[in-house]
Amino acid sequence: MRAVVIQDFGDPSGMAVIEAPSPVPTAGQVVIMTESIGVGGVDAVIRRGTLGGYGFSEGLVPGSEIAGIVTAVGAGGDQSWVSQRVWAFTGTGGGYVEQAVARTDDIVALPVGLSSNDAVTLGSSATVAHFALAHAHFAPGESVLVRGAAGSIGIATVELAARGGASAVAVTTSSLERGTRLRNLGATHVLDRAGEGDRAAPKSFDVIIDIVGGADLPAFIDRLAPNGRLVVAGVVAGLPPADFGMRLIEAGAFQQSRSIATFSLNTVPASATAAVRAEQFAAAVRGELHAVVHEVLPLELAAEAHRQMDLGRVFGRIVLTP
Ligand SMILES: NC(=O)c1ccc[n+]([C@@H]2O[C@H](COP(=O)([O-])OP(=O)(O)OC[C@H]3O[C@@H](n4cnc5c(N)ncnc54)[C@H](OP(=O)(O)O)[C@@H]3O)[C@@H](O)[C@H]2O)c1
Repeated sequence: MRAVVIQDFGDPSGMAVIEAPSPVPTAGQVVIMTESIGVGGVDAVIRRGTLGGYGFSEGLVPGSEIAGIVTAVGAGGDQSWVSQRVWAFTGTGGGYVEQAVARTDDIVALPVGLSSNDAVTLGSSATVAHFALAHAHFAPGESVLVRGAAGSIGIATVELAARGGASAVAVTTSSLERGTRLRNLGATHVLDRAGEGDRAAPKSFDVIIDIVGGADLPAFIDRLAPNGRLVVAGVVAGLPPADFGMRLIEAGAFQQSRSIATFSLNTVPASATAAVRAEQFAAAVRGELHAVVHEVLPLELAAEAHRQMDLGRVFGRIVLTP
């Protein structure tokens, strides 16, 4: 089968298409013939080498979510999965392939009416958005800022916050055109990447969901209302300055009782994630949640997909098809 591997971390040209042996599932695993492969922001973060220190090495197959048809179940597993259309989390890699392996715990049956492309656009992103908002103790009537709203996690956060009764949903994004698209998904205020550009926007926010991190993170801590909570769910701009936490405790800030936390889906039990994901897939079929597919490209063009990510051209998610 064809697989994409990272031969050299850094530039997208370090990725190559190779022939790899077809996988055989062990106990607790399934093999899935992929129909759609989601190209996540985290794939680009890993490929750039930003997370090199986390133990990734050359030969890694990028990609963490796919959708397709189960073709084999490991020994002792539930054979009724065979022939079912599923969404699957493959781990921090393993997705850019024709035949993917996933743990049975990490697959969810796709409802009739949900395309594989939509499934890999929502599957991880919308659940991250749901649990990140929960981690921030978001409640109806509160104001929300989504920093880095043009990616698939940000888009889902905007929709869920708006549907969840937020009093305001502000977004940061890099263009007016993106701002218009985000307004159509529920954003009430559009800010530039520095958090400026709309005088009518709230001056401070009860909840900030931050997918960006990077050098500007401390400035957004300052935008928290009293008792406000900022949850870092992604670091597409890299790590923040080492002393970023000082912004919680420096003169004047201490009295605001602000909080900052990280959120990773890894800390949510698989059963809870699967239940929310199944409900979100059903909501997508009902038209209550929208998968924003930027472009569908063949697997061979994985490097091109990453180039587009690096150039900041992607609104939503690129999907690869084998
Ligand atoms: N917490 C979890 O469990 C979890 C799970 C999966 C992934 N992740 C993380 O989520 C992130 C990827 O999310 P995603 O796919 O939604 O994001 P993404 O599409 O890669 O980026 C989101 C948006 O951030 C803005 N942006 C990019 N670089 C920026 C910069 N240097 N400064 C300011 N804004 C910038 C861009 O929008 P504009 O150009 O419009 O500003 C971009 O569309 C990764 O960090 C990944 O590790 C977290």
